[in-house]
Amino acid sequence: MKKRKLAVLVSGTGSLLKAALEDGLQVDLVIADKPCPGIDEVPRGYEHVKIKLISRKDFRNESGEFDRIAFTQAVLDFLNLNEIDVVAMAGFMTIFSSQMFLPKAQGGFDGRILNIHPALLPAFKGEKAVKDALEYGVKVTGTTIHIATYDLDAGPIIAQEAVNVFEDDTVETLHERIKQVERVLYPRTIRKFMEDLTD
Ligand code: GRF
Repeated sequence: MKKRKLAVLVSGTGSLLKAALEDGLQVDLVIADKPCPGIDEVPRGYEHVKIKLISRKDFRNESGEFDRIAFTQAVLDFLNLNEIDVVAMAGFMTIFSSQMFLPKAQGGFDGRILNIHPALLPAFKGEKAVKDALEYGVKVTGTTIHIATYDLDAGPIIAQEAVNVFEDDTVETLHERIKQVERVLYPRTIRKFMEDLTD
């Protein structure tokens, strides 16, 4: 089987990345969009893992606004430079512009970017998914692993697992229970996705 190269994208604590590394998943590259434990602490000690900070704050247009297109291109260039085959977003908080989702033949990663979202999509899209689910009063929520597309949290679903909501849950306790499920489900799903890649 052809060896596939995996990049994991993080912005936060990186506990899912840590779980993937501890699970023995071969991670070749970790990219973050800001300094965070996900690159500053978690991958240290894993000699084979290349670490790269591509800081959002370095990408400003003349009006001082975030230049999403230039940022996306910088990430894309670095992924291609490192001959990455599959990208797994693990708490990565920047939305990419459309060139990331071009076909592979045109330098993009269409169909090769996985995302994990802490709710049962299509319910509770967006960055406040756990809070929104709790406030809505659902009794069951969970996690979804899907293929990332230009439309946020809307790509084809690969795996889901439910998590019960308890009466006394806070956003923090509920999110932590969801993450406990994610730390098992994500490495397993990434591994299978890479094994099943045909081109
Ligand atoms: C996870 O809950 C994932 O679903 C969401 O971001 C969180 C990442 O957690 N996209 P961590 O930074 O790995 O602890």
